[in-house]
Amino acid sequence: MSKEDKIINLTHGDSHSELNIKQSTRGPDVIDLQRLNKNTGLFTYDPSYGATASCESKITYIDGSLGILAYRGYPIEQLAEQSTYLETAYLLYHGELPTPEQLEVFRLKVKQNMNLDEGIHQLFKTFPKTAHPMSMMATSMAALSVYHPNVNIRETQSRDDFFFNVLGKTPMLAAAILNTIQGSTAGMYDESRNYSGNVLNLFFGGAGDYEVSSVFSKALDVLLILHADHEQNCSTSSVRLSGSSGTNPYAAMSSGVAALWGPLHGGANEAVVRMFDEIKTVDRIGHFMDKAKDHDDPFRLMGFGHRVYKNYDPRAAIIKETCHTVLGELDQTENPIFELALTLEEIALNDEYFIEHNLYPNVDFYSGIIYKAMGIPLEMFTVMFTLSRTVGWATHWCEMMSSPKTKIGRPRQLYTGPTERDYIPVEKR
Ligand code: CMC
Repeated sequence: MSKEDKIINLTHGDSHSELNIKQSTRGPDVIDLQRLNKNTGLFTYDPSYGATASCESKITYIDGSLGILAYRGYPIEQLAEQSTYLETAYLLYHGELPTPEQLEVFRLKVKQNMNLDEGIHQLFKTFPKTAHPMSMMATSMAALSVYHPNVNIRETQSRDDFFFNVLGKTPMLAAAILNTIQGSTAGMYDESRNYSGNVLNLFFGGAGDYEVSSVFSKALDVLLILHADHEQNCSTSSVRLSGSSGTNPYAAMSSGVAALWGPLHGGANEAVVRMFDEIKTVDRIGHFMDKAKDHDDPFRLMGFGHRVYKNYDPRAAIIKETCHTVLGELDQTENPIFELALTLEEIALNDEYFIEHNLYPNVDFYSGIIYKAMGIPLEMFTVMFTLSRTVGWATHWCEMMSSPKTKIGRPRQLYTGPTERDYIPVEKR
């Protein structure tokens, strides 16, 4: 079939369906299956959505075979080098880069929402210090719906208010989580710092003697840019699916947090460092490589492989470079975990199994090394991912809700259970 063809003809027994091909602006076109069931009685079967475009979107583009990632058309490499997290957030949400005045208005709107209701502060007091930070994030994100129950999902202004509120509140939740597990106090917002400098100050500045390092605030800004969006990944799809029912958007965001927590998704950044701790030394890498290749062993090389990237994840390349910069500026060029990670990567990239399976480092392989250098506890790593991905989730939710064509998401199934049978009363069984 040539690219010019706009229709696929599908015949099944006596039934026939003409399926339109919808054109993309970049990357694969898609077959529109919306009339398939009506015309043929068939469903499609794609349980992990490997071949399914679940929606139309104008936000983020990935070419997994070439290792390309772009937000609103702008290559991730250019954004990481030249943009800031807040400017990138503006770009994702509004679709264009801002003027200096537009960016300042955006910054102020986010800042105005950087506060928490007293009830949320009280909620944190009920959490044990031992709770996992992502369980606190999922709970407190959902609890924002308690204080913001009346979002009018069909009204632009109301969606806009939600967007700025959730962007402002997420760093406050992250700081409250860190302070809960460390028994510390959050620092104050400081106009002289950029967004990431303020995040670090909220985290560590409560005691008053914390100096925000410009190396760390720049590195954090890069990490936040790189994690901000990634089209229809597991957590974003969760936000879209739950949001499609018309639920409160803070509740929908909480479903995104829950999905991100898993070790196959955002939770991998924590799992990677746990894996490095388990491997311990370079001479033990071979043993863990053997385990990763053994299909009878559940162990996998965390931070390696990706559903979409069958090439080097462009985010991992930038984070690896950022590790060199950060550790170099800290005079930690011989950081043992980084050395272990570099050696592990080299061994894996030259291993036949990893080459055949197209397994490369992903965004989570190197990020924990930077978080650790900043003093962020291991359990908080996926909260850092959440802090950034919130903008992607909120932007996708707004894109979905602004379309009058959006319907509730409701997949079907291939049923393989019992056929019809009659109930037998308990005394006769
Ligand atoms: N170590 C060893 N083997 C692997 C790995 C790995 N990390 N990843 C995939 N494989 C193998 C897998 O065993 C399978 O082999 P075979 O075809 O012989 O049965 C093949 O590669 C395809 O794997 P899959 O599980 O079918 O691929 P998937 O697209 O369903 O899973 C993944 C993608 C990211 C869940 C998976 O690569 C993985 O578990 N990686 C480790 C966890 C991780 O780093 N996750 C972070 C992902 S990036 C950030 C994010 O999404 O938030």
